[in-house]
Amino acid sequence: MTTIIVDRDLCNSCGVCSTICSMGIIKPGDKSTLPEVADEMAGMCIKCGHCEAFCPSQALTLNLRPNEKIKLPAGAGSILPEDMAFYLQKRRSVRNFTSDSVPKEKILEILDVARYAASGGNGQPVQWLVVHDRERVRKIAQLTIEWMKSLKDTNHPMKNYLPYLISAWEGGYDVICRGAPHLLFVHIPEDNQVAPIDAIIALTHFDLAAPAYGVGTCWAGFVAAAAGFYEPLKKELGLPAGRKIAYAMMFGIPRYKTFGIPRRNPLQVTWL
Ligand SMILES: Cc1cc2nc3c(=O)[nH]c(=O)nc-3n(C[C@H](O)[C@H](O)[C@H](O)COP(=O)(O)O)c2cc1C
Repeated sequence: MTTIIVDRDLCNSCGVCSTICSMGIIKPGDKSTLPEVADEMAGMCIKCGHCEAFCPSQALTLNLRPNEKIKLPAGAGSILPEDMAFYLQKRRSVRNFTSDSVPKEKILEILDVARYAASGGNGQPVQWLVVHDRERVRKIAQLTIEWMKSLKDTNHPMKNYLPYLISAWEGGYDVICRGAPHLLFVHIPEDNQVAPIDAIIALTHFDLAAPAYGVGTCWAGFVAAAAGFYEPLKKELGLPAGRKIAYAMMFGIPRYKTFGIPRRNPLQVTWL
């Protein structure tokens, strides 16, 4: 079982692959040997690809679809701190959308970025469900309202807020999906303890990447809550057995631009 492929002509036994390996299973090379993973250790490899990504001479390839190896172009992805700060500070929840749809190709491009999100043990448990059809989005909003109606006489924490949402919906105002053309659901295995965190991280990547593609997003908390509990909505989404919705996000083309940055609470930091 070979976990790494090392190009003898390029490897100079610098040892970075061994130092960087998240599982500590790469034995460094020396003058006469190449770095290697002992057969009995290979099963521990989590295929994070750090050995390959950090190899200064690009001599090493992780033996996982090796023909897909990507060399980072020099300077790629560099961003000035002030640009990064403004980019993140100007991200806003978008609740007003144009009538345009986001092409599927563009959605796939953004999701492709989210594929690189961190996940516990590189488990990558996250999968996506995109509701591209506006009518289906509307139906999901309607089902969310039905779920809210079913909570009326319970002690649900949202209880006091629900009559307002229901009457706004009945008055023709989409307080659930804000008239968004699309909904994104992130789904995970039912029995994976770390996956809910992985899902939020991946969805956050989508949220943060989207504006660079001209797409506006808003976390869809009501839909997400309903999708976890309301059988008719679960049925509508039709996830494969053993998977559950972790969260939801509405998205589309923003109708308005932002011209300022709203105030947030001052930083509260404790140093130890
Ligand atoms: C977990 C979560 C759930 C949310 N659910 C909704 C929602 O259902 N509907 C909505 O309009 N906004 C929702 N929001 C958006 C928040 O209201 C918004 O993030 C907050 O007001 C701050 O505004 P900003 O995102 O523009 O900074 C949600 C945000 C988060 C993080």
